[in-house]
Amino acid sequence: MPPSVIVHGGAGNVAPERRAKHVAGCERAVAAALEVLRAGGRALDAAQRAVEVLEDDPLFNAGWGSCLNEDGGVELDAALMDGDGLRYGAVCAMPSVRHPIAVARAVMEEGRHAIYAGEGALRFAEARGFARVPDAELITEQARERWEAVRAGRAEAGWSGGTVGAVAFDGTHVAAATSTGGMMDKRRGRVGDSPLPGAGTYADDLAGGVSATGHGEKILRVGVGFLVVAALRGGADPMAAAEQAIATLAARVEGTGGVIALDCAGRPGRANNTETMIWAWGSTDGARESGW
Ligand code: GLY
Repeated sequence: MPPSVIVHGGAGNVAPERRAKHVAGCERAVAAALEVLRAGGRALDAAQRAVEVLEDDPLFNAGWGSCLNEDGGVELDAALMDGDGLRYGAVCAMPSVRHPIAVARAVMEEGRHAIYAGEGALRFAEARGFARVPDAELITEQARERWEAVRAGRAEAGWSGGTVGAVAFDGTHVAAATSTGGMMDKRRGRVGDSPLPGAGTYADDLAGGVSATGHGEKILRVGVGFLVVAALRGGADPMAAAEQAIATLAARVEGTGGVIALDCAGRPGRANNTETMIWAWGSTDGARESGW
């Protein structure tokens, strides 16, 4: 199979009139990642690039456009995994930085620790040249309005959708990346599934890669990422592996969400049990698919 990338813009319930716009955002992320792959970049570079494009897009709950926590501020979770050597880097509950996925990459490349949290994550980021930005730079009017509605009891609290993720295959290696602002009105210090290996993010060159989206508290209890990768390791078709993991999420903890995956030959899979999961896929031979 040629090099390829699959991305998601979150499982949830995007209103019908907004779906095409969200899909277009995912298609732009795929196009940027394919450019990286065509230029000879590695799966890791392509997955990171796709997520950076989505973090820059205010439609999604990652980077610019992130959810607000109980204090009206922003705390970010992001993770990146290289299937080559099982290298992992993540940040969680990190104060505002424009590209949390790039900080996760720096964590992985340095390699001393795998996950940094909160102020420690920010200290690590700033020491490597990433600037803290005012929360206001990452908060959109729409996110603030939703937060205010939740605070006023006019909207339900709960997980918010819009997490972003990517899985890339460069012909040899697979990599996975996930980034999120988490859940609307979450408590300070709350960490979801996205930055946890085997929960929201995982990649293994001997099996494949996966990025999850949905209700983090439930996804991490089931280990959705590991479920997908274990099935791929056993030779499962990626579509079946994704569907089985989401069925298990529903059956064991009444969880809702979705996953995207590529196996180590580059075959794509995806599944969700939500109204929508925005996704797009493309390969360097020009093939493209997308939907919700
Ligand atoms: N799945 C994203 C989160 O719950 O934080």
